[in-house]
Amino acid sequence: MEILDLRHFSSADLRSLLEDEIDVWSKLLCWDYRGSSEMILRYVDAKILPGYAAVERGKIFGYAFFVYEGSKGVIGDLFVTDGTRGHDVNHVEGRLLTHVIETLQQSPGIHRIEAQLLAHDAGAVARPFTDQGFQRHGRLFMALPLSGEVPAATMNSSDVEIRQWSEPDYQSAAGLITNAYRSHVDSQINDQYRTLGGSLRFLNNIVRFPGCGTFDAESSFVAVHKRTRMLAGLILCSSVRQDVGHVTQVCVLPEFRSHGIGETLLERTAANLRKRHFQTLSLTVTEANARAVELYQRLGFSTQRVFDAFVWEG
Ligand SMILES: CC(C)(COP(=O)(O)OP(=O)(O)OC[C@H]1O[C@@H](n2cnc3c(N)ncnc32)[C@H](O)[C@@H]1OP(=O)(O)O)[C@@H](O)C(=O)NCCC(=O)NCCS
Repeated sequence: MEILDLRHFSSADLRSLLEDEIDVWSKLLCWDYRGSSEMILRYVDAKILPGYAAVERGKIFGYAFFVYEGSKGVIGDLFVTDGTRGHDVNHVEGRLLTHVIETLQQSPGIHRIEAQLLAHDAGAVARPFTDQGFQRHGRLFMALPLSGEVPAATMNSSDVEIRQWSEPDYQSAAGLITNAYRSHVDSQINDQYRTLGGSLRFLNNIVRFPGCGTFDAESSFVAVHKRTRMLAGLILCSSVRQDVGHVTQVCVLPEFRSHGIGETLLERTAANLRKRHFQTLSLTVTEANARAVELYQRLGFSTQRVFDAFVWEG
């Protein structure tokens, strides 16, 4: 087996591997990975996707890629197919990750590396990260079946109204995210939450790019403080499969918490999707974010998978 630069290859070399990956995402996460896969193949053909391929007799059976975001490197994906021609999957994953991590750590100007590997069980590929001094955060992938009625939430705050997300909410939403995640564990995992510019980039990725499903404005809502018209909370939802919604963001400003706003936002999203015959609503949450986990459990979400987020600061 050889580990080679991904930029030596074209989409034709990778297509069958990505088809295996589409199957895995569908089975494990009820997630249609075809949109992401097409985007990856376009970047591969443009020779602009840094990463590595595991190759045996000219055939790719695993890959990992990363992207540069200023002084940060983000590991975008890692996948090794079962049909590895006798190679141990975990060993190949480890070798690919070691190459990616070393490349990023040696890249001039890179001071931070982030990775979230949704399709890998917690601990499964932790070794190459922990050996290199990464911090590890447990994350949960949770899902709520949308069949059956859920009682409407009663918001204990008459000075807040809920309305659908609209494009002009962009700038105030970035401010809300920055304030909601101040000193929060999730801003250790994703440093975009720490600044207004970072939160705008986060929103841009969610709303305008298909990397995390297709943004669904109809099931995304904002909570508005009636008197000041400021945003007190928001929920953003994408469709990750024709009949599966995924909450990409839900947050409420600290001064508006514990009044049922978070719960009401989640219920509005679920009700909208249910009306449109979606089957499931999923989300991810950091295990240490106990308050959010409890809220989701109370609403009927259950944990489907536990995966890891890794962070390195050089
Ligand atoms: C998680 C989060 C969105 C919850 O928002 P919220 O508006 O405070 O949530 P709710 O009020 O609906 O429910 C949470 C609490 O309010 C209580 N509550 C719910 N309805 C209530 C009501 N009508 N009256 C009084 N309290 C109520 C709940 O029992 C719960 O209480 P607890 O925190 O003491 O256990 C919010 O804490 C937040 O923005 N956190 C930071 C960002 C974050 O972690 N986002 C989730 C990432 S996955």
